[in-house]
Amino acid sequence: MRKLRIALTKGRLEKKTVSLFTAMGLDCTQLINKGRRLILPVGEYEAVLAKAADVTTYVEHGACDIGIVGKDTIAESGKSFYEVLDLGFGKCRFALAAPKGSDFFSGHQVKSIATKYPNIARGYFDRLDMDVNIIKIEGSVELAPLLGLADAIVDIVETGSTLKENGLEVIEEIMPVSARVIVNMASMKLRRDEIESFLLDVVVAKEVMEQ
Ligand code: PRP
Repeated sequence: MRKLRIALTKGRLEKKTVSLFTAMGLDCTQLINKGRRLILPVGEYEAVLAKAADVTTYVEHGACDIGIVGKDTIAESGKSFYEVLDLGFGKCRFALAAPKGSDFFSGHQVKSIATKYPNIARGYFDRLDMDVNIIKIEGSVELAPLLGLADAIVDIVETGSTLKENGLEVIEEIMPVSARVIVNMASMKLRRDEIESFLLDVVVAKEVMEQ
């Protein structure tokens, strides 16, 4: 049988994930000095470094058994897998933000919302029973209100400095975000013991790291 394969999110979550794996006693040498190799041995596991949305795709299809990815990507994806653990790092939040001083909820015209997360934004405005025009943007969503493209944005806010430096402010917080462990549904049945042992090691390492 092949080794359990874990999809890791590149970028913001990478460093903390390596710290977690190191605390689990896994040898992360190849993950740290990765060069251009795409599949890397990590202790008794195999790791794949991928963009967040691809992590959910790999885990949904069983190309990887386990994934470590942000709740933002999970909530936007609508994909099927088990979300089993909150890792407690990579903390930020989804928020509705608009130019400082603008009265977003006033007036009757349909507002335009720029976002990298159209499903999250749609769900939020549906709950408010508010009809909006959602514009999908791939990066630097904060630019949209400055260019007159949108009245507000739905985006993740971590320190708040991107909003502040661009004259925007949070109007409403939508939901908290942090890194999660996800598991492929078939792997959870077929390789339950190995997955449970991995998850137990994660929980213990997480507790040690938090002390
Ligand atoms: C995210 C998000 C904001 C920024 C918020 O973008 O889209 O732009 O971080 O962080 P802050 O509150 O600490 O300023 P990211 O840096 O991940 O880049 P991206 O636009 O390429 O996704």
